[in-house]
Amino acid sequence: MSPMNAQENAQAPRRIVVGISGASGAMIGVRLLEALRRIGTHETHLVVSASGAVTAAQELGIGRNDLDGLADVVHNVRDVGASIASGSFVTSGMVIAPCSMKTLAAVANGLSDNLLARAADVMLKERRRLVLVARETPLNLAHLRNMTYATEMGAIVMPPVPAFYAHPKTIEDVVAHTVGRILDLFGIEHREIEKRWSGLADEFGARGNGGANE
Ligand SMILES: Cc1cc2nc3c(=O)[nH]c(=O)nc-3n(C[C@H](O)[C@H](O)[C@H](O)COP(=O)(O)O)c2cc1C
Repeated sequence: MSPMNAQENAQAPRRIVVGISGASGAMIGVRLLEALRRIGTHETHLVVSASGAVTAAQELGIGRNDLDGLADVVHNVRDVGASIASGSFVTSGMVIAPCSMKTLAAVANGLSDNLLARAADVMLKERRRLVLVARETPLNLAHLRNMTYATEMGAIVMPPVPAFYAHPKTIEDVVAHTVGRILDLFGIEHREIEKRWSGLADEFGARGNGGANE
């Protein structure tokens, strides 16, 4: 990178692209957008698939306007000419939360037939951070292979799996932990994770192993 380009990038606004696709877990995308707004360091660019809007309505009872109101800039999933469809539009990266197996397949195979997949394709070609909060269970071989392909290209596949060691009491607790781990991957400081793991000794005191050897 030339010194001029480095300077331009340093001055560019910090932006992050958030995609919401039609997997279960729309709450993760919503809480992520809310956290990013609270933190305030990044301009958020939102793209929601048609199925993403359906799952948000089904799971959270919210409409497109509610979703759109959480972001700084909203892009139509059919607008493949949007700013985020080009690598020359500088961003810190992209999160797809939740990421359906269909969108995972599109990203893993370079099938950029909508803006969600195209923006993710841009992240991979520009070697920018791409986090796929891939949600399905159980997984078939296509899902597993697509996760491998995406990982080989540099994406981070991050299924929204609960951290049971954190003793979550509510779904909100589980989602906050996931959102916190997503923000960690971008180096964004946050307060989503109330108590971070600091070792078994902290959990059990002096014994250190909860008495497992007793
Ligand atoms: C309520 C609901 C929940 C769904 N949950 C999942 C899921 O967890 N994972 C998944 O891959 N697809 C799930 N689907 C199916 C996807 O929405 C569907 O495959 C869709 O074509 C994905 O399109 P998109 O990736 O463009 O959003 C769900 C659909 C509905 C209506």
